[in-house]
Amino acid sequence: MSNKEVGIKKMFDGIHKRYDLLNHLMSAGRDIAWRKKCCKKLLKYSGGVGKNAVVLDLCGGTGDFSLAYKKILGNPKLCLVGDFSDKMLLESVQKNAGTPVQMDATNIPLSDNSVDFILNGFGMRNIPNLDAAFAEAFRVLKVGGIFITLEFFKPSSTISKLFYEKIAPFAIPFAGMILSKHNAYRYLVLSILNFLTPKEYAIKARSFGFKTRCVKAFDGGLSYMVMAEKAEYAG
Ligand SMILES: C[S@@+](CC[C@H](N)C(=O)[O-])C[C@H]1O[C@@H](n2cnc3c(N)ncnc32)[C@H](O)[C@@H]1O
Repeated sequence: MSNKEVGIKKMFDGIHKRYDLLNHLMSAGRDIAWRKKCCKKLLKYSGGVGKNAVVLDLCGGTGDFSLAYKKILGNPKLCLVGDFSDKMLLESVQKNAGTPVQMDATNIPLSDNSVDFILNGFGMRNIPNLDAAFAEAFRVLKVGGIFITLEFFKPSSTISKLFYEKIAPFAIPFAGMILSKHNAYRYLVLSILNFLTPKEYAIKARSFGFKTRCVKAFDGGLSYMVMAEKAEYAG
């Protein structure tokens, strides 16, 4: 792990207890709705394999994406919650979200072509070596498998620019400091402003052999879903 990754892991280890509460408070509960919307889209595109699927909740943290999957698509054959923060994973265990596996998203300990669906909620933005994470996601997915990203991307719409450039740099770190006594929420805003736009992310996904199935803005672009498929004829 690079020094930057060690720092990011330490940060999530430090906020694991209050992560869910702060997530729900700061998004006014919208994070729950966004994960559900992603799973509903996945249900539509999944070809009915939801219950027989092998699912990897990558950067799964406290497991909320896995829980949303189970609610909408039913219990899959195997649901792995993969994260490098053992503390975040402990929270997922308490919620019975899935099988916890401590892993680095840039070096996934699974075999090639073994996963039907990868869920990634607010994870990719935290990975310095994004290319390695894309390559690994592509490698472990089965052909036809779906990689679904729910993320706060670099703002590109009027509403998201107003929120992330003008309001969030003050409001989010302030609320984070009050509620969790942690400066992780300053990092959150910076990581959003320094990330890719949804369009740039979709282009990057395609450069790894993914076919973009759907790019959808939620709540005026505050968050986006990018659904990509490991294309049949990709190398
Ligand atoms: C913002 S949280 C998202 C948690 C959850 N997916 C959700 O929807 O709320 C990001 C998670 O990504 C994990 N993470 C960041 N970089 C990672 C990496 N390189 N490998 C594995 N997990 C990573 C963190 O430990 C953290 O639990």
